[in-house]
Amino acid sequence: MSTPSRSGVLGANVDTRVEKFTESVSFDRRLYAHDIVGSQAHARMLAKVGLISGDECREIEQTLSEIRQEIEQGEFHFDPALEDIHMHVEHALVERLGDVGRKLHTARSRNDQVSTDLRMWTREAIDTIDRRLADLMAALVARCERDEGVILPAYTHLRRAQPVLAAHAYLCHVERLARDRGRLADARRRVNVLPLGGGALAGTSLPIDREMVRRELEFDAVAANSLDTSSDRDFVAEVTFAWTMIAEHLSSWAEEWILWSTTEFDFLALPQEFCTCSSMMPQKINPDVLELVRGKTGRLVGNLMSLLTLLKGLPPAYNRDLQEDKEPLFDSFDTIDACLELAAAIVAGAELKQESIAERLEAGFLDATTLMEHLIGLGVPQRTAHHAVGSLVAMAAERGVALAELSLEEMRSVDPALAVLDERVFEFLGTRQAVAAFASFGSTSPERVAEQVTRWKQELGI
Ligand code: ARG
Repeated sequence: MSTPSRSGVLGANVDTRVEKFTESVSFDRRLYAHDIVGSQAHARMLAKVGLISGDECREIEQTLSEIRQEIEQGEFHFDPALEDIHMHVEHALVERLGDVGRKLHTARSRNDQVSTDLRMWTREAIDTIDRRLADLMAALVARCERDEGVILPAYTHLRRAQPVLAAHAYLCHVERLARDRGRLADARRRVNVLPLGGGALAGTSLPIDREMVRRELEFDAVAANSLDTSSDRDFVAEVTFAWTMIAEHLSSWAEEWILWSTTEFDFLALPQEFCTCSSMMPQKINPDVLELVRGKTGRLVGNLMSLLTLLKGLPPAYNRDLQEDKEPLFDSFDTIDACLELAAAIVAGAELKQESIAERLEAGFLDATTLMEHLIGLGVPQRTAHHAVGSLVAMAAERGVALAELSLEEMRSVDPALAVLDERVFEFLGTRQAVAAFASFGSTSPERVAEQVTRWKQELGI
């Protein structure tokens, strides 16, 4: 068999530079198992509709299994002259079976074949990432129980804002990751549609049974328009976006934990096994893994941009540009897979520095909001209460004391709106009481957070 893409109307000679420029086997060999499983199902279907005999089908299936084994044992010879993984497998089959092997490509084009392979690969990749997401969520939920009752200052504009339970901060990431799982599950429905049978672009005149192939390869549906399916790479862009969004979430988590682990914050001790040293400064312990989790987001964004740019303006049906879809997809998968794995390990291994957090917890007037809301409860309009508490905070800051350290008389004297205060005000001051006061659904009080922890444990089955 001559180089398959050169058979037909073309002669055998190709410019020497073309081979290197056009080959994809260096990266699409990753699809070998999917290519072979897909070909085996295709052969069974050809036998069922009578396009090949039962014996031929068995020979093809058997030989494809042998080729698979050789690839897995590293004994298979790859040759860039054969372009891609599809050519390699088919070429090896023809070498071994002659004319019987030449029948496999009946009613099939590499255009529907590559898309089928890539969809099978992608749905597995989705499932792998889904498990990783579940593991990371479980690690965060486990921390909620380990650090039960610990209060942290939370920040807006990177300024101390309101107190939250550490568990509330962890569950913030759990919510984000749950949306990521939802996005992947949603995308999976569109991934899991069978292109095979679409042929090169117009379908086939042969009496194939696409429904059978769908069942055998566990697709949910059969693509209904051959022209569309031969070039549909929406799923590649969509899944890459979903993975990019995970990276965005992880980068935010990584940044939060990098800050928490600085001397300035001193909230968190990162597990030493996940830190590195400086080559010059002997005292330094650097959060390189977290920084790379944050930094690798750039790769995913870049890959997504590559894909969207690749697809723009392509005329319908297969164009060779589409071969460029695989490397960004594979790289995004590898990157997010590694990031998620390391994130789960860091979440499990880090320790909150509870004493250091507690030492400075009353700094920053984290109870100002609950005091204001107490005033609102006493009938003071929000804007008035906001202004009055602002004045009170300014006075306390000037004197270098916390709100709870002021006497009732001092408070009442600062602003006329504060005259409504009585002794009950002390039930709302201080960080722990402030946290307890944030009790509406979705807020950070211990009761609400405990409900959420229970919910996540049920959802994750932990
Ligand atoms: N290696 C190609 C790809 O990844 C396979 C499909 C080639 N089809 C073709 N008509 N040249 O897209």
